[in-house]
Parts: sequence; C-alpha cells; structure tokens
Amino acid sequence: MSQNLSPIDAAKFAAAKRACDYVESGMKVGLGTGSTAAWLVRCLGEMVREDGLQITGVPTSSRTAELARQAGIAVTTLDEAKWLDLTIDGADEFDGELNLIKGGGGALLQEKIVATASDQMIVIADTSKQVDALGAFPLPVEIVRFGWQTTKALIEETLASLDVMGDTSTLREDGGAPFITDEGNYILDLHLNRLGNARQFGIVINQIPGVVENGLFIDICDIVVIGHHDGRVEVRDINAGTTEQGVVDIVETENLFSDLAE
Ligand code: 5RP
Repeated sequence: MSQNLSPIDAAKFAAAKRACDYVESGMKVGLGTGSTAAWLVRCLGEMVREDGLQITGVPTSSRTAELARQAGIAVTTLDEAKWLDLTIDGADEFDGELNLIKGGGGALLQEKIVATASDQMIVIADTSKQVDALGAFPLPVEIVRFGWQTTKALIEETLASLDVMGDTSTLREDGGAPFITDEGNYILDLHLNRLGNARQFGIVINQIPGVVENGLFIDICDIVVIGHHDGRVEVRDINAGTTEQGVVDIVETENLFSDLAE
C-alpha cells in the first residue's frame, strides 16, 4: 500500500508519525488543521484504538473535530480543557527561528488560541514549508464581515508603511462565495512577497478595527518535525538548540488510511 502514498503525503505522514512520540497517555493535546494535521489525527487515532493511548484532543476546527471523532479520539473544547500539554499542527511556512505563517486552511484563529494555551507547540511539515524569510506565502488575516471592504482598504493602506514588498490582498473564496471561518468571519490573504519585521507587522495589523487575528505565529512554536518522502525526519528544538535526525517506517494500515478526509 505504501506505493499508493504520494511523496508529499509520505513526507507529511513521516512528520506526523514522529511527532506522535511526544504524546503520552493522560495528555490534553491540541489537534491542528490541514492535510498534515490530518495525518497526525489518524496516527493518534490508531494509537488510541490499538495501543490504549488515552488522550483528550482539543480540535482547532470543525473539520478536525469530525476527523478526530471518526478516528476514535475523545474530543473536548478548550474551555473544558483550559490548558493543554501539547499542540501539534501544520504550517504554511516556518523560518529558522520557528516563526510561522499559518491559516492556509482557514483555521488560524482557533489554531493560535489553542497553541498559545499549550505548554508546547510542535509543527509538523514537509520540506517545502521551510523558508529563509517569511512572506512568500500569502499571509491570512481573519476579519469580521461587517465593513470588510473598509477593513481591506485600511489594511492595504497600512501595508504601504510597513517593511513588505506587496500591498494587495484578496478575499478568500470557496466555490465562488466568500470563505467563512468556523468563527463566522472572512479571510483576507495578504500578498506581501517579503516580510521584513514579522513581529512588528503582526502587532500593527491587529490594531486595525475589523481585524480579528493574523496568521503570524511568533515565538509560539517550540519544535518543528520535518518529514521527507523516504521516511527521514529532522527534529529541531528551538529551546534546546538541538537538531536530531531519524527515520520513520512508512508502513500503512487500512484502518489508518482508508477514509482520508483531506
Ligand atoms: C490551517 C493551517 C495549516 O496548518 C496550514 O495551512 C498547512 O496545511 P497543510 O498541512 O495542508 O499544508 O494553518 O489553517
């Protein structure tokens, strides 16, 4: 069956599988959103069903909640859990300091709240997500629907005074209509191309009325697990200052991969 796994999915699987080593029984675990996080949920589900792992998952989107329940993981809300041991999530970009752009899947708000309420955040990613400097991936910004065109204009005006190379934005769409987040908001994707000072940028953008949150995760991620298509994994721990290499067996089971939702 492993011959059915595309190279990119094999890399995502390898990262997700390695990240499962950080999960222990009794933990409250934030479950990210996106195609890489979907592999994580399936791997954790298998550990719950077959190895007796006992965890409580806090999903970062309705999509992940559904997937987690299907996989057999007990889920609860952040309000019930209050504080989490660990959050594992994907990313659209990560740099050398493990700062991130997230929100390509439209779940940045819940993802940021959940990751911030966790002792540790681990990002799982394939090699394509690694960048020297953040900004090539359009930066998602969640905005309220009321007066969204005014908010968009204000954001673009603000971009002109910031250290970026682009000043346009597009309203994210889904099937010809605006994409609506789980919180009922819109997403604007900012085409920055280059982002000179991500920390300052995030603070300034969040001050614009109508902006709910931006997809920059600064000083939130502790560890990144980078997966390769052949099962090699690299684990970078920004706090310990360590980098470890390893290999994950790309072995599949029908249970794990039979009904991929993403
Ligand atoms: C969702 C996210 C995702 O983690 C990010 O878009 C990466 O997704 P994928 O693993 O599918 O590449 O931030 O809001």
